[in-house]
Amino acid sequence: MMKSFTLNLRTTLFFGIDAIHSFEKIAKYIVTQDLSPLLIITGKSSYKKCGAWNVVKEILESYEIEYAHYDGVSSNPTIEMVQTAFEFGRGIGAKSVLGIGGGSVIDVSKATAVLIANKDISARELYLKRPQVNPAVPIFAINTTHGTGTEVDRFAVATIPEERAKISIAYDSIYPTFSIDDPSLTTKLPRDQTIYVTIDALSHALESMTSKYSNPFTVNLATQASHRIFENLPKALDHPEDVEVRYWLLYASMIAGITLDNSRAHLAHALEHPISAVKPEVPHGLGLALLLPVVIEKAYEAFPDVLSVALRPIANDLRGLPEEGKKARKALEEWISSLGLDKRLSDLGFCEEDVDELVRIALKTMKYLIGMAPFEVSDDMLKRMYIEIL
Ligand SMILES: [Fe+2]
Repeated sequence: MMKSFTLNLRTTLFFGIDAIHSFEKIAKYIVTQDLSPLLIITGKSSYKKCGAWNVVKEILESYEIEYAHYDGVSSNPTIEMVQTAFEFGRGIGAKSVLGIGGGSVIDVSKATAVLIANKDISARELYLKRPQVNPAVPIFAINTTHGTGTEVDRFAVATIPEERAKISIAYDSIYPTFSIDDPSLTTKLPRDQTIYVTIDALSHALESMTSKYSNPFTVNLATQASHRIFENLPKALDHPEDVEVRYWLLYASMIAGITLDNSRAHLAHALEHPISAVKPEVPHGLGLALLLPVVIEKAYEAFPDVLSVALRPIANDLRGLPEEGKKARKALEEWISSLGLDKRLSDLGFCEEDVDELVRIALKTMKYLIGMAPFEVSDDMLKRMYIEIL
């Protein structure tokens, strides 16, 4: 497999236990580069509960950095949240943006940083028209979950409710300039979120290693990521405060972020986004947990060698033969259900009559990711996949 590929590694990442104290380096950078006022974006409370805020606030004060705080982000963030954060940032004359939170917060921070540098564009125009833009103002990210990998990539997802679209922008200028991944900030994550965010990371790993853009570098990283997840997610559920377990889950989600950035996702993400676009209360990772086994069964035909190695910790009898797709699917389904996840799409409020609409949304808004699948995709195949998880 001697494919040519481009590596996207542009963020300086401070990774490890107590990496939060490296915020001092970010503060120095803000001062020397004249990047205040700083717009801080968070959710309602997790930025405090995780322990990040005390450290950040003290450092900001000791460096006399001017800042203002927008705390209106929730999961599956809407375009309205991006617009409001931008207007708030514009009001204070923000010159840089700091997101403290999980993927939703960091994604809103990235999109806001683009708008601050392009004041005549609205959030809706940015997502729906994909205009040429000036580079975003500098972004700093303190990541508090082990899921999206957005702290090291150039994507930012938002939902546009009236379009039933949950879509991504991608710009080189929205790689955070600096990010912090500190496992000790993740030990307070509730059980259900621990599962959902980790399934997201697993999905990034398994999809990117089997996408049209997969390459030896991403296969290697994604294999490591999936092995760490299979080993450590059950441990995290038994021992949520075990920082070593969280270290490996965070490491896995971060490297899966790099593989997502370089090799993309495909059908599990393409089919999940319509679900949480229609019902924003459905966690991204929950929709993925339903779809991933079905998608992996199909992808196995194209990548039996790669997937048999990646799935080894949960299915050591896979030999890397194309006909083992069903076995791979079953192993993944059993592992997911052993975590206590046994919901179906119908439990999330969908019925058979909704499937055509989900397929329509996927075809309209997720064309790019559908095209990343390592096999020919028909409308009928998408429909069947939804029906299988009903
Ligand atoms: Fe994802």
